[in-house]
Amino acid sequence: MQTRTAYCGSINSDFIGKTVVIQGWVQRSRDHGGLIFFDVRDREGLVQCVIDPQERPDLFKKAETIRSEYVVEITGTVEARPEGTVNPNLPTGEIEIHIAELEILNSSKTPPFPIQDGITTDEMIRLKYRYLDLRRPEMQKRLMLRHKVVKLIRDYMDEKGFLEVETPILIKSTPEGARDFLVPSRLYPGTFYALPQSPQQLKQLLMVAGFDKYFQIAKCFRDEDPRADRQPEFTQLDLEMSFCKQEQIFELVDGLMLKIADTLSDKEVMFRPIPRITYAEAMDKYGSDKPDLRFGMEFVNVTKLGNASGFKVFAEAEEIKGICAPGCGSYSRKDLDDLTEKAKKFGAKGLATIIINEDGTVKSPIAKFFSDEEMQSLISAFGAKPGDLILMVADKPKTVANALCAIRLEMGERLGLRDNRYLAFAWVLDFPMYEWKEEENRWDATHHPFTMPYEEDLPLLDTDPGKVRAQAFDFVCNGSECASGSIRIHRRDIQNKVFSLMNYSDEEIRERFGHMLDAFEYGAPPHGGIAPGIDRLIMLLCDDDNIRDVMAFPKTATAVDPMTDAPSEVDAEQLKELHIRTVKPVIENK
Ligand code: AMO
Ligand code: AMP
Repeated sequence: MQTRTAYCGSINSDFIGKTVVIQGWVQRSRDHGGLIFFDVRDREGLVQCVIDPQERPDLFKKAETIRSEYVVEITGTVEARPEGTVNPNLPTGEIEIHIAELEILNSSKTPPFPIQDGITTDEMIRLKYRYLDLRRPEMQKRLMLRHKVVKLIRDYMDEKGFLEVETPILIKSTPEGARDFLVPSRLYPGTFYALPQSPQQLKQLLMVAGFDKYFQIAKCFRDEDPRADRQPEFTQLDLEMSFCKQEQIFELVDGLMLKIADTLSDKEVMFRPIPRITYAEAMDKYGSDKPDLRFGMEFVNVTKLGNASGFKVFAEAEEIKGICAPGCGSYSRKDLDDLTEKAKKFGAKGLATIIINEDGTVKSPIAKFFSDEEMQSLISAFGAKPGDLILMVADKPKTVANALCAIRLEMGERLGLRDNRYLAFAWVLDFPMYEWKEEENRWDATHHPFTMPYEEDLPLLDTDPGKVRAQAFDFVCNGSECASGSIRIHRRDIQNKVFSLMNYSDEEIRERFGHMLDAFEYGAPPHGGIAPGIDRLIMLLCDDDNIRDVMAFPKTATAVDPMTDAPSEVDAEQLKELHIRTVKPVIENK
């Protein structure tokens, strides 16, 4: 084997006349009127190579044995392609390599799917042969971008004075709201380590330890059901800083996100400076704590108008909100039925529709319950014009938010307003400290229990915990939550209070968080931090709606790895060493 002198994809007209050595995989070979052509591929792209059997009958025989995905080494001279054969769609399309030496470094079985972009192969097969799937240029591009993003992050954090510190993977369980993955201890039978759901506690302890500014590209593990944007194992940029207020975290992350967008993406950042809205405002206007701000279509509250009407459902509703979809007045009965079905899927009992015809008259199943005047008031509340469509949901505020949010996103999609050429970054601030867990009859931390309430809301901890606002914030983009963070509690008395509201007993607090509370007694500095999800960020940059496509070796949507067959049974001997006996669940035949 020789030493490569150039990547296939990097060879262009500057190389004309030069001799190069390339190594890579054969994309395809074809016989054209006596000449044999090979497209050879490496991670940088494809290049066309050619053998003239007249000139090199010796090579011709060897070339005939070569199939797709064979690994070859080619030495040859770079020449301009003959006129009329230039391929403007290929970066190397102006040249070809005239083969002088051809070495077959390895053969290959026929791959189970073509190694090219845009395949429709079942994802299970792609994951089973992930090493082949990753050979495809679009997959390589995604992982290359991921590399660049992580490199930019490391450089940026270093520039800003942050130190990268590794934290352990075998830890004590961290409460982040999901289920822990547990690892049995061989040395201490019956005890378990947990894989970190995030390095949350450790980064706070690093602040107590005086590191001042910490970051880590951290693997996190959460035993929850995978979704399109969720994996059991994922990566965060985890960071924490001492003596900081929220503002410093916003500025740091704004700078980072803008730098990533401006240098590694050709998407346009929609709003500069990055806007900040409160959780209350986000819920009120968009029914979501991760609103897609690429378009408006804000909720209009028409509770008063609706309550005063003769439509029983509206008259009795706790809340009535709606949106105006511009230019959708020509929607058919079927379109409206589909939308109603969607609203119902998200918990609504119905979807009230008003079409404003071009002549100003209205078409609506609820029109009969409204006087002309009342109808006009409704229409003007929405600022609706002839040709528009009003869609309303009446219900409990939570249901209105969920259903109308889904309808708003659907209309945004239908109207082409969720345009991937834009990044609509925003901060959502002032999350509520607690949410009420109906089933468990207790308060639970909305972010996590180390989040600091606003000073001025502290008295509410005693009187009205549901109203306490936390110094917690999310960074969102295009309807997706990219990062979550908060200012932390550094005082033991407040931390105790927060835990006790969550109904943890003194023993539980001691058992689960004793080390944190102990640490807080040795001069814990005020501190705060945030954790952007790297996978989600790459998904946004690549327009992917499948998180698996931005990870080298992900799990399926059912949390298995078809390539290695994990999870799998282990030897009886291994279990014995761990003092573990497994009992398989009895699956009932329905
Ligand atoms: P949180 O749990 O909100 O906060 O996670 C922060 C970010 O991590 C990403 N993320 C995920 N990505 C892929 N798959 C998952 N299962 C998954 N879960 C979360 C999201 C999310 O915004 N310790 C706190 C951060 C802090 O307070 O500093 C934490 O982990 O992009
Ligand atoms: P009904 O009188 O139940 O046939 O409803 C009349 C119209 O109001 C239908 O278009 C329903 O989809 C709609 N509707 C019913 N319940 C609600 C609700 N809770 N919110 C909004 N629209 C509703």
